[in-house]
Amino acid sequence: MKHLRERDEADEQSLQKYHKLAEKIDKRDRVILKNEEEREVFEEVFDRQTLMVLYDLSNGGAFSYLNGVISSGKEARVYWGVTQDKTDVAVKIYLVASSDYKRRLQYIVGDPRFNKIGRDSRSIAEIWARKEFINLKQCSEAGVSVPKPIAVKGNVVIMEFIGIDGVPAPKLMDADVEKRDYTRITKAMEVIYKKAELVHSDLSEYNVLKYEDKLVIIDFGSAVSNRHPSAEEFLVRDVSNINRFFERRGIRTLENGKLLARIRGEKVN
Ligand SMILES: Nc1ncnc2c1ncn2[C@@H]1O[C@H](COP(=O)(O)OP(=O)(O)OP(=O)(O)O)[C@@H](O)[C@H]1O
Ligand SMILES: [Mg+2]
Repeated sequence: MKHLRERDEADEQSLQKYHKLAEKIDKRDRVILKNEEEREVFEEVFDRQTLMVLYDLSNGGAFSYLNGVISSGKEARVYWGVTQDKTDVAVKIYLVASSDYKRRLQYIVGDPRFNKIGRDSRSIAEIWARKEFINLKQCSEAGVSVPKPIAVKGNVVIMEFIGIDGVPAPKLMDADVEKRDYTRITKAMEVIYKKAELVHSDLSEYNVLKYEDKLVIIDFGSAVSNRHPSAEEFLVRDVSNINRFFERRGIRTLENGKLLARIRGEKVN
């Protein structure tokens, strides 16, 4: 009986925290729920456990409040967050309710960094968040231009905001590009492979932002160790996506094979 009561109390405390956070969000009117549809979306993203995670992150100082949604993808929502000292951060919430799990697993199973993998949807969303955080850290430390990772908890990753006043920098597909952007991105691919020992695995004009004349690579949830059994296949795809984009923009590129060899550190004639 005592055991049950203890659980009730713990539950009651969680519930209070939950209400406090929901109230905080409502009160500040930062997330405006205009109609029923928006409320449904809100509840899909901010399920009780995710709210608790946000509450903890916010208490730990990673952000102070959310200032609105930046992007609603199939697998994740990205929010514009603001810290106490008014610095913008990107708050990426992996959706527990996403149905794309089969596709996700191939980017985790086989990565020597992730041995134990729960198969329920929350565990996968959480591992995805942790993976993106670790990947960003490895790239950051290797000197690749990526958003600086700030915090990770549960299915939420917080990182440096790339843009101004809550407006993200344009994706490569929406920006003007020059030859030196090609040089930069191919150099970054090389450093990601050799120094961070990763393959991005979802690299394209959609996942590179052009900010203050620099290129910043984002969306590292799919990135795998370069020792992952499918790493080579993913690298070939990244190379051909990047080459295709620059060729379409009229920029001379290295042949796929040559670029691949350069990234892998093989001799190129
Ligand atoms: N650190 C960041 N700073 C600013 N904007 C960001 C940041 N990270 C992501 N965004 C914005 O959110 C969008 C989606 O982010 P990301 O690609 O990481 O998520 P995603 O779930 O793959 O989304 P999608 O499925 O649309 O590609 C980006 O195109 C960009 O506009
Ligand atoms: Mg993306």
